[in-house]
Amino acid sequence: MHRARPAMTTGVHGMARWGLCGVLFGLLRLSSACPVSCFCNASRISCIDQEPGIEDFPVLVPESDMENITDIYISNQKRLFTINEDHMKFYSNLRNLTVTNTHLTFVSTLAFFNNSKLQYLNLRDNNLSTLSWMAIRNSNLSTLLLSGNPLQCACENIWIQVWLDDSEREGLQCLLEGGGAKALSRLTLPSCKYPHVEVIPAVVSLMAGSDATVMCNVSGSPTPELSWSLNSSDHPPLSTSHEISKIELQSVLTLIGLSPDDNGRELTCSAENIVGQNEASVLLNILFPPTIVQLYQPVRNQDWCIPFTVTGNPKPDLHWYHEGKLLEEQQYIRTEIHEITDTEYHGCLQLVIPTHIHNGIYTLVASNEFGEDSGNVSAHFMHIPDVDHSGTVK
Ligand SMILES: *[C@@H]1O[C@H](CO)[C@@H](O)[C@H](O)[C@H]1NC(C)=O
Ligand SMILES: *[C@@H]1O[C@H](CO)[C@@H](O)[C@H](O)[C@H]1NC(C)=O
Ligand SMILES: *[C@@H]1O[C@H](CO)[C@@H](O)[C@H](O)[C@H]1NC(C)=O
Ligand SMILES: *[C@@H]1O[C@H](CO)[C@@H](O)[C@H](O)[C@H]1NC(C)=O
Ligand SMILES: *[C@@H]1O[C@H](CO)[C@@H](O)[C@H](O)[C@H]1NC(C)=O
Ligand SMILES: *[C@@H]1O[C@H](CO)[C@@H](O)[C@H](O)[C@H]1NC(C)=O
Ligand SMILES: *[C@@H]1O[C@H](CO)[C@@H](O)[C@H](O)[C@H]1NC(C)=O
Ligand SMILES: *[C@@H]1O[C@H](CO)[C@@H](O)[C@H](O)[C@H]1NC(C)=O
Ligand SMILES: *[C@@H]1O[C@H](CO)[C@@H](O)[C@H](O)[C@H]1NC(C)=O
Repeated sequence: MHRARPAMTTGVHGMARWGLCGVLFGLLRLSSACPVSCFCNASRISCIDQEPGIEDFPVLVPESDMENITDIYISNQKRLFTINEDHMKFYSNLRNLTVTNTHLTFVSTLAFFNNSKLQYLNLRDNNLSTLSWMAIRNSNLSTLLLSGNPLQCACENIWIQVWLDDSEREGLQCLLEGGGAKALSRLTLPSCKYPHVEVIPAVVSLMAGSDATVMCNVSGSPTPELSWSLNSSDHPPLSTSHEISKIELQSVLTLIGLSPDDNGRELTCSAENIVGQNEASVLLNILFPPTIVQLYQPVRNQDWCIPFTVTGNPKPDLHWYHEGKLLEEQQYIRTEIHEITDTEYHGCLQLVIPTHIHNGIYTLVASNEFGEDSGNVSAHFMHIPDVDHSGTVK
């Protein structure tokens, strides 16, 4: 009797649990394919059931179901070994990730590349011997928790020192090669140095059409990888033709025939090794004489405006002539620049209540120390004033 009761109880509970699970799975499967052993809603995935457990990091079908997930919590999964970018890339709004008490052994260097909102990463109590800084390079991490992993006292883990959470600062140990452990916060390794980057010169100030040489020197250990980023996402590719030659810790960028289109660009030399990443830039200040790109007939806004666009570096001085006579600017007639894009200055010759005496040819002269350009436009603001019935001029 005594032995039968516990068995019966377990049986009943077991039945009830499986029955409920079956119903839940049925419901969940209609909306989204949540992996067995996990619970999913629109914003959260949690996998805590040990049996049968998940074999891979959970991925939902269809892909769009992963977009709104902000939280993933995984625990007690003995068959989970790896996290890589293929698992993570669709969780573009993920903020919190906890993977704890699993056999997680490997996190790829691009694992969180597409998780730019990831803030909280808890990887406690796993089997990680190393974790690369590159895994979190694109994230927005503020908390990283790693205690309870067999972390090695190795150069590729040294970056973790600056990330140590207050709760782990003293407690997080790393394993020494010859046996024994040490607080990671006190680990120093002589052949493990953060990259230092120097770009010379910091500014290239030369005439358009000239050639320039920019040198990027780096130091660091292990020897850092060097690269120039000449295409940033918010700029078109560099117009100036260029060559790059690398000799060990130095990369020389040769710019051939500097193009005015590249004026104002910053070119970045970046160096990275397993300790971290660093960069330095050169600013292109490309000098060229002014050009009047556009000069239009007056348009009426609140006031009248003779619109123009000029380029030039340094910024051109602008002068106007009316019928060949220098126009003295004052409160009612003045040049205004409304917008500066790259090296283009967009503006107006602004005229408040112009009359027929202001009609005629307007000449714009743009000049800087390297030259000048001029352009003409004819303006017709008003007819000869009407005379009204009383005979007075309006
Ligand atoms: C998902 O579940 C979590 C707790 O399990 C809850 O806090 C959250 O509000 C739920 N989200 C939605 C969208 O139902
Ligand atoms: C994600 O959230 C947005 C806004 O709340 C909602 O319109 C959309 O349907 C959600 N997508 C999925 C796949 O649940
Ligand atoms: C990365 O996230 C963006 C949204 O931020 C998403 O549109 C894109 O599909 C994701 N990339 C991959 C490879 O899944
Ligand atoms: C995400 O992690 C932060 C930091 O621990 C926590 O405060 C927050 O409640 C978590 N968010 C969710 C939805 O669990
Ligand atoms: C832990 O990781 C090591 C490699 O670092 C591996 O040899 C070992 O099998 C892993 N142990 C478990 C339980 O996954
Ligand atoms: C990054 O995290 C901070 C809080 O730590 C938050 O205010 C900010 O909006 C986050 N940025 C992105 C792009 O998610
Ligand atoms: C850059 O490296 C070159 C060659 O190693 C060296 O001649 C030069 O002095 C270095 N410049 C600086 C500023 O370190
Ligand atoms: C710049 O982008 C072009 C394509 O847009 C690519 O072919 C080229 O390799 C890129 N150059 C660098 C230095 O990244
Ligand atoms: C503009 O007009 C003036 C006469 O008003 C003339 O001397 C000059 O050559 C013209 N300039 C251009 C660029 O057409």
